[in-house]
Amino acid sequence: MHWIAIILTTAVLALLLYWLLITTEGVYLGRRVVVWLYDITAHKYDGIKEFEPDAEQFFLIRPLLVRLRQVPNPLVLDVATGTGRLPGFLLEAPTFNGRVVGLDASGKMLGFAAEKLRPFGHRASLVQQVADKLPFAANQFDLVTCLEALEFFPSDTAALQEMIRVLKPGGTLLVTRRKGTEGKLFVGRYRNVQQFEAHLAALGLEEVHTNPWQLDYDQVFGKKPVIGNR
Ligand SMILES: C[S@@+](CC[C@H](N)C(=O)[O-])C[C@H]1O[C@@H](n2cnc3c(N)ncnc32)[C@H](O)[C@@H]1O
Repeated sequence: MHWIAIILTTAVLALLLYWLLITTEGVYLGRRVVVWLYDITAHKYDGIKEFEPDAEQFFLIRPLLVRLRQVPNPLVLDVATGTGRLPGFLLEAPTFNGRVVGLDASGKMLGFAAEKLRPFGHRASLVQQVADKLPFAANQFDLVTCLEALEFFPSDTAALQEMIRVLKPGGTLLVTRRKGTEGKLFVGRYRNVQQFEAHLAALGLEEVHTNPWQLDYDQVFGKKPVIGNR
């Protein structure tokens, strides 16, 4: 009996640790743990993700370019840019002639982003900062994106409010909604499609809608209303 109790306790503790550190990437242990985990795994990130350039251009960049087509020299902010996925693929698109700012809390992730974005010179810049204190004035960006990261922030609401604050009236926000079985393991943080869309609308966005994207994530778009248009 004694051994069974030890084995069961060990198994439960192992599962709990797995959930805390791997499944939910430290979010229930605080921002420092999340960022530390990204710092120590940054060198493996692109290898694990294996982004497929054609799929990224078609399913991610093309819909953004459609929304930016009326904007002559768009200014884009990518929150939690990681190793520079979105800036890299956007700046590679021949029809994009704007600039991209990538922001992330992990210095190591940004180090890999800097290498990737070097060929684009002054069209890409990187900032180390947390998502709920964006170091920008209000109404600056034509497009704000945040991919595969909201669920790791201490408060997704605080970060979304900041993203909306720095977005120009009429500008587009693209964020991702964690879904699937793993999404539901973010206990107390998971929102289904309706809840997520309602949340963005309650924060002041209009034309909110969801596009199914990857196995674990939907893309969710919204527009900041033009003053006088609400
Ligand atoms: C799964 S990665 C996504 C990176 C990139 N957006 C992509 O799609 O490849 C999550 C990123 O969020 C960043 N991050 C986590 N918490 C953060 C916070 N509070 N503020 C800013 N960045 C944060 C991590 O450092 C990491 O680079």
